Amino acid sequence: MAKLRVKRMEQDDEPFKIDIKKISFKEFFSCIKGYGVPTILAPLFIVAEVILEVFIPMIMASLIDKGIGNGIVEPNMNEVLKYGGIMLALAFGALVTGALSARFAAVASQGFAKNLRRKLFNAVQSFSFRNVDKFSHGSLITRLTTDVTFIQNTFMMLIRIAFRAPIMFTFSIAMAMSINLKLSLIFIAIAPLMIIAIIIVGIVVFPLFGKMFKKFDNMNSRLQENLRAIRVVKAFVREDHETENFRKTAADIQRAQVRAERVMVYSQPMVQLCMYTCMVCVIWFGGGLVLRGTGMTLGELNSFISYIGQILMSLLTVAMIFVNIFMTMQSAARTSEVLSEYPDINDDHADQSLEVADGSIAFENVNFGYTEGENKLVLKDVNLEIKSGEMVGIIGGTGSAKSTLVQLIPRLYDVSSGAVKVGGRDIRDYKIHTLRDSVAMVLQKNVLFSGTIKENLKWGNDSATDEEIIEAAKVAQAHDFVSSFPAGYETDLGQGGVNVSGGQKQRLCIARALIKKPKIMILDDSTSAVDTATDARIRRAFRQELKGTTVIIIAQRITSISDCDKIIVMDKGVITDVGTHRELYESSEIYREICISQQKGVE
Ligand SMILES: Nc1ncnc2c1ncn2[C@@H]1O[C@H](COP(=O)(O)OP(=O)(O)OP(=O)(O)O)[C@@H](O)[C@H]1O
Ligand SMILES: [Mg+2]
Repeated sequence: MAKLRVKRMEQDDEPFKIDIKKISFKEFFSCIKGYGVPTILAPLFIVAEVILEVFIPMIMASLIDKGIGNGIVEPNMNEVLKYGGIMLALAFGALVTGALSARFAAVASQGFAKNLRRKLFNAVQSFSFRNVDKFSHGSLITRLTTDVTFIQNTFMMLIRIAFRAPIMFTFSIAMAMSINLKLSLIFIAIAPLMIIAIIIVGIVVFPLFGKMFKKFDNMNSRLQENLRAIRVVKAFVREDHETENFRKTAADIQRAQVRAERVMVYSQPMVQLCMYTCMVCVIWFGGGLVLRGTGMTLGELNSFISYIGQILMSLLTVAMIFVNIFMTMQSAARTSEVLSEYPDINDDHADQSLEVADGSIAFENVNFGYTEGENKLVLKDVNLEIKSGEMVGIIGGTGSAKSTLVQLIPRLYDVSSGAVKVGGRDIRDYKIHTLRDSVAMVLQKNVLFSGTIKENLKWGNDSATDEEIIEAAKVAQAHDFVSSFPAGYETDLGQGGVNVSGGQKQRLCIARALIKKPKIMILDDSTSAVDTATDARIRRAFRQELKGTTVIIIAQRITSISDCDKIIVMDKGVITDVGTHRELYESSEIYREICISQQKGVE
């Protein structure tokens, strides 16, 4: 059985640690798939660019020494033109190869990001409710957007600049040493200092970026929640309150970002300090050599300085790459976390070819809790038998675990212990797809999607014909009001179905579930916004049209369930009574109380 582990990971200021072992590099590698050629070509062309570029100062030295001379003899125009031409050709070659490399890197990194996003999205789709509960929505959004962008940029950097810098460094060092070995010792002494400085900055900045990302999660959560509940916000005139809240969240991000950047800004001046110290030393000692005419010509000094520039530039680039990798490690770990989250409801023990025989349901000693722990059980020792084709009502106070009970049937959550059986078999024996095809459920918090009514209904079954759609809508008592719209079934629903009434939305959701032609149909408080007469018509239609389908109706109103074959009374996670309306009125105190209180309401 899947282990229970629900833990909110988005607690705000807990110390941030990243376990590098948790980064699934394999997953990231597999995202290159389909873009292998540009991924290889980008560094190849950058190598070509570097090689071409690195010869330029060398040719420059010849141009100065052989063409221009030292100002004492006349310049030799032939030599100037010759070396000038070679330099031009090299520069042009570097330009072309550089541009090609940039192009390939862009193609490769965009493709990489596409694959990664798709992978993450697929992972999220495979999540169970419990998996989703573990991450906040906002955090998932940051992981699929900001984090992926970070990784994409670093990937681009890795296949371009990460190749360019070390090669440039090696070639330039070799060239500089070939010009003057002793002078080269200057930067060999200074370079380690620079590297140490960079590493220190990296170590300090790493956790700060982790914090920053969490703030982003926070902001996305807030934003999303606010947008989804914008009507509630307006109804309660809470705009100012929400604006103030958001201002705080945004200021939080600003603070976190400034804190991280404040450290980062030191890296560049430190590197520059090293660079210029190096330059001054080279010009000082090298200039002396040239003036004394011992061991170095003016052209050589000139190209030596160019090489030093290139060497230090490549070190600076390496520094940037390191900082970037540090930052990206956070993103990589966060996305890995999503990729490696194992869907705790899966087909691992399923019999691939098993079909659901009928709509019978049995609960055997079922215990269930959303979180681990004996005292956190929401359902306690539930035993229940429902025959195929029965119409069953469930009633009980709010929070008595009615929704929890029925959510176990299509395996939206798995039991903590005991077993749920459908069609005589443990539901874990079926493939999830097979099971959920047979069990349709209208959730208490139901949603419609933007698109036409027809598109929404077809969600239940892509291949449903127009006749089937109308038939389902008729049973759900939705056909009449849909037909009254000018565009009928082609009416566009706004996002989340904002332009239909609450009761209409509920009926559309019922129709959507009916189109699946399920063996078990569960309505979780799905007619709460529908008037009593329509409610009764829906049940009558169910009786007539859905013979053989097991129907479970959760309701708050006694009238919604009083004519059911069997009524289940729940209280605080246990089934207290089962029977018909008449039987329960006689025997169940809770049931009688509910009846009386609702009658009083009517009187
Ligand atoms: N996703 C969840 N995570 C943790 N606890 C939950 C979750 N959903 C419900 N609960 C808890 O489980 C208990 C039963 O909730 P449930 O939604 O099953 O009640 P209900 O009978 O359907 O109530 P209502 O009539 O208000 O819909 C409640 O105490 C609730 O706080
Ligand atoms: Mg409920």
